[in-house]
Order: sequence, then structure tokens, then C-alpha cells
Amino acid sequence: MKRKLIAGNWKMNGSLAANEALVAQLLAEACVVSCDAALCVPAPYLAQVRALLGEDSPFSLGAQNVSQHENGAFTGDVSATMLKDFGVRYVIVGHSERRLHQGESDTHVAIKVRRALAEGITPIVCVGESLAEREGGMTELVVKRQLASVIHLNGHCISEIVVAYEPIWAIGTGKTATPQQAQDVHAVLRAQLKAASDHADRIPILYGGSMNAANAADLLAQPDIDGGLIGGASLKAPDFLTILKAAS
Ligand code: PGA
Repeated sequence: MKRKLIAGNWKMNGSLAANEALVAQLLAEACVVSCDAALCVPAPYLAQVRALLGEDSPFSLGAQNVSQHENGAFTGDVSATMLKDFGVRYVIVGHSERRLHQGESDTHVAIKVRRALAEGITPIVCVGESLAEREGGMTELVVKRQLASVIHLNGHCISEIVVAYEPIWAIGTGKTATPQQAQDVHAVLRAQLKAASDHADRIPILYGGSMNAANAADLLAQPDIDGGLIGGASLKAPDFLTILKAAS
């Protein structure tokens, strides 16, 4: 069976002291983890968390965003090359919070994916519909449009990406998609990836949106759910460890 991937998305949370405590708690129990695992931390803490994890950690280092530009006059941006310099293995791209608050378009997301792949960093590409879109019967259309743009620009190496299905109405709301609702969308995404690549079966499709210690096992039991992108619950070591165990 394919190894599951559990990625924590700390979002804009943490401090030097809080990160140190959280990583220490995770590492103390890390022997129970036999899935792939990553911590996607705020950019200023990449160096700190890299040092805390040390060599041969079961947790890979992840970032939450990457610039669509290579380098130059882009104040505030962080390039894929810089992320690579800090040992970053994964980067979240196109999270709905960035699409919504930073105006990231499908095209921006596709270019960011290309930048990450060019540096050997695995992009975790987020797609997902709003509540209005779901209620309007648009879910499939929306997620396929979002993924199509990434496939269009990165078709030749599409099997190197990770996809995360994150329904916007489930993010940080405590309202999770049911395992069947999630599986239905994952199957649509899998079919779309299969049409683009002979290796689509090995592309992890994660579920994200209020995944927690109580619901993780049921979600992860679905045939096309290959892991989770975890926000709130990744900030609490016991909860995150329970999810990691459910995926192991
Ligand atoms: P949540 O966030 O687990 O807090 O819902 C998930 C995400 O936004 O990646």
C-alpha cells in the first residue's frame, strides 16, 4: 500500500518558544510515525524548525508559499531557490486563504508549481470549492478548473506534485466533509490526473478541512484519500500525533 502523507499547515501561528515546545513534543513520540510527514511552517521559522528537526527526522520541512518569480525586485517575496537553501522539501501552493486574500489566480498557482518543481521542491497544490459553489452544484467544475491550469503548465512532470482537496467551507470551521463527500471529489481529481499522466496513481491526493484526531481514520480509509493537510490540529501535538498514527 502507498504510504500516506500527513502535512501540518501551521498557517500564521507560532513563536520561537512555541515552535520549540511543539517540535520537542512531536519528536518525543516520533517513533510511532511510519507515514510520510511534513511541517509547513511560516517562512521566518524555517531555519529554526530545520535545526530543531535535525538530521534523519521523520518530519520533512515545508513552506506555505513560494514566489512566482525567480528573483529580483519583488519586495517581500520568497523564491523557490531560497526555500531550497533552507532544506525545504514541500511547499503549499494555492491555498484558498491565499487565493482569497492575496488574489492568487489559477495562473499564478500554476507558475508557482513550476518554480517549486524546478528546484526539486514538491508543491502541495490546494483546490477546493466555496459553500456557495457546492450548493450550486459547481464543486466538480471548480476543482477541475483549478487543477487543469496546473496540469496545463506542468504536464510533463505532473506526477511529481501532491494535490490537496480542501473544501473552503470545511477549513477552520469544524465542519468536515464526510468521508464519502471527500472520496467523491478525490475520485474526480484522480481521474483527471490519470488522463494527464500514466503515473497518476502515485500522486498523493490529501484531504484538508477540519481533519482532526476524531475523524482522521475514517477519512484516511477512503480509497483515494492518501493523506491529510492539517491546520488547527497540527498545532496540538497530541492531536497531530493521533492523526499521524491513524495514517501509519
Ligand atoms: P484546518 O485547516 O485543518 O484548520 O481546517 C486546513 C488547511 O487550511 O490547510
